[in-house]
Amino acid sequence: MNLEEIIGKCGSLKELEETRVKLLGKSGEITQKFKELKNYPPEERKEIAKELNQLKERAQQLIEEKRKVLEEELLQKQLESEKLDVTLYSPRPGGAVHPISATIDRIVQFFNSLNFSIELGPVVEDDFHNFEALNLPKYHPARDMQDTFYLKDGNLLRTHTSPVQIHTMLSQKPPIRLISPGAVFRRDYDLTHTPMFHQVEGLVVDEKGKVSFTNLKFILEEFLRYLFGSETKVRFRPSFFPFTEPSAEVDIGCIFCGGKGCRVCKQTGWLEVMGCGMVDENVFKAVNYENVSGYAFGMGVERLVMLLYRIDDLRSMYQGDIRLMEQLKW
Ligand code: FA5
Ligand code: MG
Repeated sequence: MNLEEIIGKCGSLKELEETRVKLLGKSGEITQKFKELKNYPPEERKEIAKELNQLKERAQQLIEEKRKVLEEELLQKQLESEKLDVTLYSPRPGGAVHPISATIDRIVQFFNSLNFSIELGPVVEDDFHNFEALNLPKYHPARDMQDTFYLKDGNLLRTHTSPVQIHTMLSQKPPIRLISPGAVFRRDYDLTHTPMFHQVEGLVVDEKGKVSFTNLKFILEEFLRYLFGSETKVRFRPSFFPFTEPSAEVDIGCIFCGGKGCRVCKQTGWLEVMGCGMVDENVFKAVNYENVSGYAFGMGVERLVMLLYRIDDLRSMYQGDIRLMEQLKW
């Protein structure tokens, strides 16, 4: 058996893998030889085993080298076939509203029709607005929930849109009825997390007793059915946020697997789309509000986009691949 020849003539990664299995797999030729060791007299075994090990290592090494060559070839082919001539004339008018902006527009439309005003806040925040006033004192363990990008001057990139609650309550008197869309930042990166994403915050504050959890639940259920259709499964799950009490997280049934469990919903059948709850008394104290009650919610826009457009990897939203963007035009 000439290893160099056998491995050298593999023309594709698939062929190489088949050869690897044929040689080194569970019932591969070399593996088989190891199994036959027991048929030899004990004094010969050691020497044969040594040779077999050398053979095995040599095979592994040759396969790895070949794999690198084949992968490089594949990459070159791909680069060649995806080459873009940016000077080519394109008759396509191009340009469309990005799915994230389109979705924010739809969200805003719903709440606007219910008399919510739109408030915007800064992206660079201070500790007071992003944490302290929201009942997250320094060293509070809940600060770990949000891995934060800190700036050199001690400020930070806001980790959620909730600081807009504080800005608004400090500058306006109740009643308040606002939503606030915008970009937020966290040190997070996987299938359903990107370091920059968007949230829409909601806040309703009125005289004590006028605003209840029932109101909150009603409005969010109405909203999710507006967005996803009247059949949408919605679930409120008890949760914790320092700035609301009681708190809940809202999930909707995973539309990729119909609730059976898949990699997108991490096998749970549900996707978390927002957090909500009744505004905590400590938040009202921080902005000098008295005799009021209120509810708040904060939703992740990208999650809603994934569900609306059936995209199973959030990160593709930001890679600007024209072929994907073409498909996503509303
Ligand atoms: C918050 O950020 C709270 N401020 C929400 C809130 C507001 C609760 C008002 C109560 C009252 P949370 O960290 O769970 O909570 O994020 C809210 C939503 O943002 C999540 O449900 C999820 O849909 C989305 N989200 C969170 N992290 C990421 C990420 N890295 N990438 C994309 N979406 C994310
Ligand atoms: Mg969460």
